[in-house]
Amino acid sequence: MSHKIAVIPGDGTGPEVVVESLKCLEAAAAKFGFTYETTQFDFGGERYKRTGETLPDGAVDELRQFKAIMLGAIGHPDVKPGILEKGILLRARFELDQYINLRPVKLYPNVDCPLKDKGPEDIDFVVVRENTEGLYAGAGGYLKQGTPDEIAVQESVNTRKGVERCLRYAFELTRKRDQEKTLTLCGKTNVLTYAFDLWERVFHEIGDAEYPDIKRDYAHVDATVMWMVKNPEWFDVIVTDNMFGDIITDLGAMVQGGMGVAAGGNINPEGVSMFEPIGGSAPKYTGQGVINPIASIAALQMMLETLGEDEAAAKVGEAIVEVVGTKLESMSAGRMGYSTSEVGDLVAEAIAS
Ligand code: IPM
Ligand code: MN
Repeated sequence: MSHKIAVIPGDGTGPEVVVESLKCLEAAAAKFGFTYETTQFDFGGERYKRTGETLPDGAVDELRQFKAIMLGAIGHPDVKPGILEKGILLRARFELDQYINLRPVKLYPNVDCPLKDKGPEDIDFVVVRENTEGLYAGAGGYLKQGTPDEIAVQESVNTRKGVERCLRYAFELTRKRDQEKTLTLCGKTNVLTYAFDLWERVFHEIGDAEYPDIKRDYAHVDATVMWMVKNPEWFDVIVTDNMFGDIITDLGAMVQGGMGVAAGGNINPEGVSMFEPIGGSAPKYTGQGVINPIASIAALQMMLETLGEDEAAAKVGEAIVEVVGTKLESMSAGRMGYSTSEVGDLVAEAIAS
């Protein structure tokens, strides 16, 4: 059966890196004998500037027909911040109910890590970020807008259902990873006493009832970022809400060697998932062939796992390790020792071998 994949190259360096993951997808399909079809969509800043549309009517329904979406990057220097992010990225996450944002934090061998005395054996954890609720839900509003007494309220929405499905996903993942089998809830129970009380209660409720084999740990978000720098080896799986997850995964990306390597999956386990390098559109590097495509190829690896192509996914992972470990001089844009497309070629060759 052929996998139907939607491709949204998007803005900035998005198209350049997506071409490289498609190259690797082709190599993986040839090697492991699966077939796929891709359909490209031009959603992004250029289309918005031309038509005033972010996602046109019917686009989300169209995307529902695919098994997975490969996204490059969204964000354009000429478009006011927020329009494309909300209109495309967040809308896709919400309307396709991609309730998990999965962000592995893994330091590959031979990659520079900003943490002193920490190596690949210390940095290998996954952040499970809730992806459809919290402060991102858009609840709130203004009172007396434009007056000196103006009030702006932005509320964090946490539903029992949303919290529970996110925690359950995280428990299952912790079991499947089979490492330290420790799931850390990252919250702020000392201040956000409604939202994280719910998270904490559900965490222990379903932990006791369904996951007695998984060790449960808790850390406030401020302590979490401290431990991520000081003792990253303590973490196996971290589960947290949308806003905290957004913040701690940028730190995670730095700890694993920068935006050139960090990938994320917006996952609806029962529906259509979307995979992206989390570095953004990097306008200053656009069109120069210097951006690192490894993050996008790591997103491909996650996509293949979701498609059930486990062997191919594992091979892509090995190919990344091989190329990063033995070929690239640096993970930073312009300093890899190779162009964007040469890096794609190297990984594709390693997949084929
Ligand atoms: C991310 C990004 C987005 C987010 C932005 C672009 C809306 O920072 O994927 O982490 O905040 O979720
Ligand atoms: Mn972010």
